[in-house]
Amino acid sequence: MAKFKTPLIDELEKGPWPSFVSDIKRQAKTKPELEDLLGQLELSYKDKETHWKHGGIVGVFGYGGGVIGRYSDMPKEFPGIAHFHTVRVNQTGGFYYNTKYLGQLMDMWERRGSGLTNFHGSTGDMVLLGTQTDQLEEIFWELTHDMNTDLGGSGGNLRTPSCCLGMSRCEYACIDSQAICQEMTMAYQDELHRPAFPYKFKIKVSGCPNDCVAAIARSDCAIIGTWKDNIRIDQSTVAAYVNGELKPNAGAHAGRDWGKFDIVKEVINLCPTKCMSWDGKELKINNKECTRCMHCINVMPRALRPGVDKGATLLCGAKAPILEGQRLATVIVPFIKTEGTFEEIKEVINKLLDWWMEHGKNRERIGELIGRMGMREMLKATGLPPVPQMVKEPRSNPYIFWEESDVPGGWTRDLAAFRKKHPL
Ligand code: HEM
Ligand code: HEM
Ligand code: SF4
Ligand code: SF4
Repeated sequence: MAKFKTPLIDELEKGPWPSFVSDIKRQAKTKPELEDLLGQLELSYKDKETHWKHGGIVGVFGYGGGVIGRYSDMPKEFPGIAHFHTVRVNQTGGFYYNTKYLGQLMDMWERRGSGLTNFHGSTGDMVLLGTQTDQLEEIFWELTHDMNTDLGGSGGNLRTPSCCLGMSRCEYACIDSQAICQEMTMAYQDELHRPAFPYKFKIKVSGCPNDCVAAIARSDCAIIGTWKDNIRIDQSTVAAYVNGELKPNAGAHAGRDWGKFDIVKEVINLCPTKCMSWDGKELKINNKECTRCMHCINVMPRALRPGVDKGATLLCGAKAPILEGQRLATVIVPFIKTEGTFEEIKEVINKLLDWWMEHGKNRERIGELIGRMGMREMLKATGLPPVPQMVKEPRSNPYIFWEESDVPGGWTRDLAAFRKKHPL
């Protein structure tokens, strides 16, 4: 018998999709305190406002991030969820687990928390929802000592780096996104746990421009696999797609009759830079104009493949709207090698972090700092050369200004000589 009547949130159980309300009700059978969660949620729907206090961070000793504090603002009415902290747990690269590990994690969470989880949160972490303050050190101990797993990042620090499954399964991968993610996690461990940053900093790694972890939209530093040379074309397989022998998009759009595959309509005309042509026999690509959008490769994956001279594009400055509006990341290094322990990438990240820590205001993301101080200042501080990809739109963000030292003769000018040539 439910502790509270919940007519409003019961509505969320209707429809064909999975319902988190049903999940919580099921879990409440073994964890009665979740009845209070349902009760408070119902009240929030009724009052049209949240009944969580703003949480902040409740850490574990020695760490600044990792646990997100959450307290009910009606602890007397809903004592079971007076504390209901969220624990971010560092996920594995590419989200691979074995069942033994998952079993261990769930046993721990049934014992020490609500049993509710969110796999995976938008940070990438495994998210364990709802526990009490006095459980935190115990959870931390079990995770680190028994499961060899670290807490994730939260607050003003490096957030848990995340990546797509890359080369482990995906033939599009141009870089080993998992290896890069692992290396960045280890290299910036201190920044994950001992906050020194003005605000959060996210590193996300996608193996190719399909960008399955949405690094370009969600990370302060996006590392996205790409290639320098030409898209590899197998003309006879292109013909097989055109003749209908192979299904476009590997059959991903099956289930509806889209008609016969039309290479001109579905590939050539949709190329954003219009750099492809098809004369009925041969597919040509003007690779100089190709922006590596992946569209043509996604449609005909057996005929087209990324080139062989592979590396990454580094982008900087994406964020979701909180203080300032949403922004996408800007290309800062069009092509960087991804070898060994990725020192070239770390070098750029270190310079970005130094500049941001020096100049960033409290709760200012690096993208906002670039917006406030200008791309030029960022380039000066990092020593990166300006590239055309940095121009957001003509005239809005000019970043090239001459320094006096760049100009022969500096700013001084012989006015008399000038006026002789250009009389008033
Ligand atoms: C004394 C002569 C000239 C002066 C004082 C002058 C001044 C300017 C100024 C102030 C701008 C705007 C720059 C900016 O937005 O940053 C501009 C842009 C431009 N001017 Fe001139 N201009 C002169 C001669 C010319 C001539 C002779 C041409 C063409 C034959 C020309 C073509 C242009 C064009 C195409 C732009 C736009 C550039 C862009 O979109 O970035 N200008 N000019
Ligand atoms: C119907 C004809 C035209 C239209 C609708 C038009 C429209 C515009 C617009 C909207 C801009 C501002 C763009 C911006 O700053 O972002 C502009 C700038 C400019 N237009 Fe035109 N334009 C026309 C014809 C011409 C012609 C015939 C010339 C030259 C012979 C010309 C030369 C320029 C130049 C040099 C600028 C840049 C000025 C500056 O920003 O300093 N335009 N035009
Ligand atoms: S981002 Fe590219 S490499 Fe990574 S999983 Fe997606 S398609 Fe594959
Ligand atoms: S990857 Fe994109 S830009 Fe490049 S040729 Fe294919 S469709 Fe055009």
